[in-house]
Amino acid sequence: MQHSNTSSASGQNQTMRNYYRFQSRIYDLTRWTFLFGRKHIVKQFPMQAEEEVHILEIGCGTGFNLRNMASRYPKAHFTAFDVSPDMIRLTQKNTRAFSERIKLIEAPYDPENAADIAPADLVLFSYSLTMINPQWSALIELAVKNLKPGAYIAVVDFHDAAFPWFKKHMGNNHVRMDGHLLPFLEKWSLPVVKSVKKAYFGIWEYMLFIGKKPTS
Ligand SMILES: C[S@@+](CC[C@H](N)C(=O)[O-])C[C@H]1O[C@@H](n2cnc3c(N)ncnc32)[C@H](O)[C@@H]1O
Repeated sequence: MQHSNTSSASGQNQTMRNYYRFQSRIYDLTRWTFLFGRKHIVKQFPMQAEEEVHILEIGCGTGFNLRNMASRYPKAHFTAFDVSPDMIRLTQKNTRAFSERIKLIEAPYDPENAADIAPADLVLFSYSLTMINPQWSALIELAVKNLKPGAYIAVVDFHDAAFPWFKKHMGNNHVRMDGHLLPFLEKWSLPVVKSVKKAYFGIWEYMLFIGKKPTS
């Protein structure tokens, strides 16, 4: 199956920049019809609203989650990565009201670019990991390293699909849908929230996961 037209991290980064050059223009108009669970995962975060936490988002897109999280957590500050200049430009515009609390990094999330990140209380991957092929597992491990002990990794993303034609269609849009994320996330963190839900009567499934980094 085709997941991406590349097989290296640098190739994946370029594929994303190219893909979102056009998709960024229609992203907010179209994605609410299929990127389910994004508001729900934020509602499940284990922190209290008044906590002064540091939240990291990997692949922030147009800033949909940052805006939501910044409203729900008025004392939190945020660091967000995105590899696509077109997407991050939209994040900047869409999160202007919260700009003092949000640091945007236009770069791929990788060990070099993440070297100076302050330890986080929570890292969010929202519909980014299934597009990060082949390096998705290395980036989960990196995210766990960027967390304080006892902090959280939150993921909302596609899980799996019953129909090969649908998987192929998603593969053509650089999304890998093989149920591969959950087992790996459970290897690296202790599940606090874990659910798999059906979309459009079962054409595909999406998942919500929040795991706690072990303290030792
Ligand atoms: C489907 S969008 C999700 C955007 C946003 N999180 C949301 O839920 O609407 C995936 C985003 O991940 C970004 N992305 C993909 N690979 C990345 C990488 N290696 N490092 C940082 N961002 C990446 C893409 O540029 C894109 O903006």
